[in-house]
Amino acid sequence: MIVVEGLSVSFGAVQALRDVSFEAQTGKITAVLGSNGAGKTTLLRTISGLKEPASGSVMLNERSLLHVKPENIARLGVGHVPEGRGVIGEFTVEENLRLGAMMAKVNLSAGLEEQYERFPVLGERRKQHAAKLSGGERQMLAMARALIAQPSVLLLDEPSLGLAPLVTSQLMHSIHDLCATKNLTVILVEQNASTALRISDHAVVLHLGSVVANDVASKIAADEDLRRYYLGMVE
Ligand SMILES: Nc1ncnc2c1ncn2[C@@H]1O[C@H](COP(=O)(O)OP(=O)(O)OP(=O)(O)O)[C@@H](O)[C@H]1O
Ligand SMILES: [Mg+2]
Repeated sequence: MIVVEGLSVSFGAVQALRDVSFEAQTGKITAVLGSNGAGKTTLLRTISGLKEPASGSVMLNERSLLHVKPENIARLGVGHVPEGRGVIGEFTVEENLRLGAMMAKVNLSAGLEEQYERFPVLGERRKQHAAKLSGGERQMLAMARALIAQPSVLLLDEPSLGLAPLVTSQLMHSIHDLCATKNLTVILVEQNASTALRISDHAVVLHLGSVVANDVASKIAADEDLRRYYLGMVE
């Protein structure tokens, strides 16, 4: 599990996160919701070691991740699928997956087989350049590239961004399935609150860098004020 406590992060004069605390449990999906600039991406980047916090702590199963280099945080089992997916368009599907496996030094053929079984479309397109994939396929590739390293934690930054509703719901279904079958700790960042809440166990709502709500997903989904003022879910 991931435990974040009192986390504050600044970019010069801009405070992107203020005293953020929450827990993401093993085998559960924790949604991190909030509008533009709420601090969602900064939170994931701080967990994976790409941004140094001003104060506070991040623990992975009792181990502090503070001052640990991003590559070592990845080796400890934290997979990060960045905003915008971060796959390499000029590389084929398989080459992108090989990169993910290489950095984690895992068995390549077993890893590829597992990912192609999970995402059959990637197997069919293994020789195709990633740039030729649809948005949904590219998101699957980004997830598969993180998963091939066998992480115990998966950080997903706006996986539904730019995807059609049907593709989004298929993707959310695979995230839910993945979390359960691999007993992952999933932190799902989404601006699309209703989509994320449907598959999440727990949810944290950020507004201008502060936590304004932290509760079971069904309670967040039922809170009229949160829906209206922070989640943009206007009926
Ligand atoms: N590299 C940076 N340099 C300066 N300010 C930054 C940087 N990255 C983020 N910020 C600022 O930190 C705050 C939080 O940004 P962040 O990207 O974490 O928000 P977000 O919730 O992911 O937003 P979005 O939904 O648009 O992706 C914003 O005010 C943003 O302008
Ligand atoms: Mg963001």
